[in-house]
Amino acid sequence: MRLAGLVLGGILAGSLAPGASAQTPDGAAIFRDQCAVCHQPAGQGLRGQFPPLAGNADIFLSRDFPARVVLFGLSGRIVVRGETIDSAMPPLDFLSDREIVAVVAFVRQSWGNAGLPHKAMKPLDAATVAALRAKKQTLAGTVFRERERLKGMAAKH
Ligand code: HEC
Repeated sequence: MRLAGLVLGGILAGSLAPGASAQTPDGAAIFRDQCAVCHQPAGQGLRGQFPPLAGNADIFLSRDFPARVVLFGLSGRIVVRGETIDSAMPPLDFLSDREIVAVVAFVRQSWGNAGLPHKAMKPLDAATVAALRAKKQTLAGTVFRERERLKGMAAKH
């Protein structure tokens, strides 16, 4: 019986663990479907309108900064790789926690971005995204300020 319990427990843990649907979301596909229309298929951005994500070290400003942008949007004047953009990104909070993790990982690993200088950080995880999402009331509208704060910290190093 004990063995049967272990086997059954293993099967349940493997197949029915919460949030563990069979497939890990495909970050590349999410980028292509949800981000590329603005940031362009190779993450190169569109001059004066959409900032590049390729070669943009801001994606490493903090462990969760890109997740905040995706959950809550971003608006305000920013300078990316010498180019000023004063626009707005809408929240894409219809993406699930795991989809946001996957697309952020994709952006951080693509186009040579992994080689950008940045401090070491644990990969983003779904629990962190869920916790941010739960704080929407207080965090929505703060992403631009958070970006400025993190930029200020980065500039001091
Ligand atoms: C409708 C157009 C649009 C879509 C779709 C979009 N973005 Fe954006 N994104 C923008 C704009 C515009 C900005 C700059 C906002 C500003 O000027 O303050 C931006 C900014 C960002 C930034 C901050 C860049 C920096 O240097 O601080 C990140 C990160 C980002 N987007 C990631 C994503 C990801 C990931 C997706 C897909 C899940 C996505 N965006 C989808 C328009 C878009």
